[in-house]
Amino acid sequence: MDARLEARIRQLETLRFCAGDGRESDSAAAGTPALASLASLPPLPSTPVLSPAPFFPLQFASAPRATPAIVPGPTPRIAGTGTAEPDGPAHFPFLGPVSDTFECLLGAIQTYAGIRPDESVRNKVKTYLDALSEDARRTLMARIGAGQLSEPEWAALVETVLIHETFFFRDPAQFEFLRSAVLDQMIRHKRRDARPKITLWSAACSTGEEAFSLALVVLDALLAAGEATEVSDGEICPNSRWTISVLGTDISPESLSRARAGIYRNENLGSFRGLPIRYQRFFQHHYEIHPDVHGNRAGTFGPPAAGDSRRLLVREGIRKFVSFQPFNLLRETPPAGGPAEGFDIIFCRNVMIYFEYPTRERVQAMLHRALRPGGYLALGPTDTLVDRALFRPHWDGSAVLYQKHDADGGTRVQR
Ligand SMILES: C[S@@+](CC[C@H](N)C(=O)[O-])C[C@H]1O[C@@H](n2cnc3c(N)ncnc32)[C@H](O)[C@@H]1O
Repeated sequence: MDARLEARIRQLETLRFCAGDGRESDSAAAGTPALASLASLPPLPSTPVLSPAPFFPLQFASAPRATPAIVPGPTPRIAGTGTAEPDGPAHFPFLGPVSDTFECLLGAIQTYAGIRPDESVRNKVKTYLDALSEDARRTLMARIGAGQLSEPEWAALVETVLIHETFFFRDPAQFEFLRSAVLDQMIRHKRRDARPKITLWSAACSTGEEAFSLALVVLDALLAAGEATEVSDGEICPNSRWTISVLGTDISPESLSRARAGIYRNENLGSFRGLPIRYQRFFQHHYEIHPDVHGNRAGTFGPPAAGDSRRLLVREGIRKFVSFQPFNLLRETPPAGGPAEGFDIIFCRNVMIYFEYPTRERVQAMLHRALRPGGYLALGPTDTLVDRALFRPHWDGSAVLYQKHDADGGTRVQR
């Protein structure tokens, strides 16, 4: 690599480190009661027993507790190992002293989703628990202790701490760089194939804006290369040899259902704040069926009802290239249904800031496995690459893209 480029990247990463996004989180991890430490605790008793001490001493110090009834939940999917099990609910081998319950819950959320229990996460979890009745809170903790929370219940719990902030063409320099330095060249190279295809993954896509932005940029590049035609306003059809697919994944089922709907509010700080004008034609006003006077959805079809006038829908011509599925980044294996040879391009941005350093390391290793040799990874502007041996950084002065090393002569993606 060019020595100046390397020096610049090092300088950039040092700045990020100093800005508080680097390995300093390791020390925070040391003080966090991660579930790893719980693994050494005694095994789960056959019937989980709650100590009579209060969950939150300040609030409940005077209230004597009866042993709560445990509501039978679905069969636990995970044996009581107490270790990280990102494919399913985390499981407590032992509920621990009740005064630690709040910490244990934070630890379980971190084990399940990777989210570091910082001050804001702690406040959100406390608010969530405070809103429950005392019985409901005890039952919840008992069921977590017994490993009885189902996947949807975990998702609902974790949802309380997730941040879904996103918009179209967030960090535009990165999209520009992708377009000018990667896609144009990739299209020139792939057009020699009999059945060329480009596969992209927006990992932690939130409500889908990033995945749709990727589809727009690829289709635009194909159009410019003469490998696609704009058949009507807002509908680009790649020439028939080409296959283009964008996968959007997130841990939040709620965000994914909004992504699948493809309807976004067009307001000041909404989804469209970064949309380049030339892409506006790929959105249409969202029309819906208004309920009749009896409230039946059989009324008139027309412009959205009052209050909905700013909703825009991604045109079907773009939506058909994008699919969404749930995926937890802490999984070891890339999403099922991804390309066997690995993705060409992965965007995983503005999510690893919520993870501790070892979790980032693990996620980046998974993303590396999910890319084809020579494929590209985009991280968020405050993310750092944890293992320089895995990727070669490319820097254009305002954005960085990381290319998977091809040095081993063509390592194949393990699935
Ligand atoms: C701030 S949004 C970023 C969205 C988009 N990538 C962007 O940069 O605009 C972070 C997203 O990461 C998701 N997320 C958090 N932890 C995750 C995990 N362990 N696996 C998958 N998604 C996760 C959240 O649900 C949220 O939608």
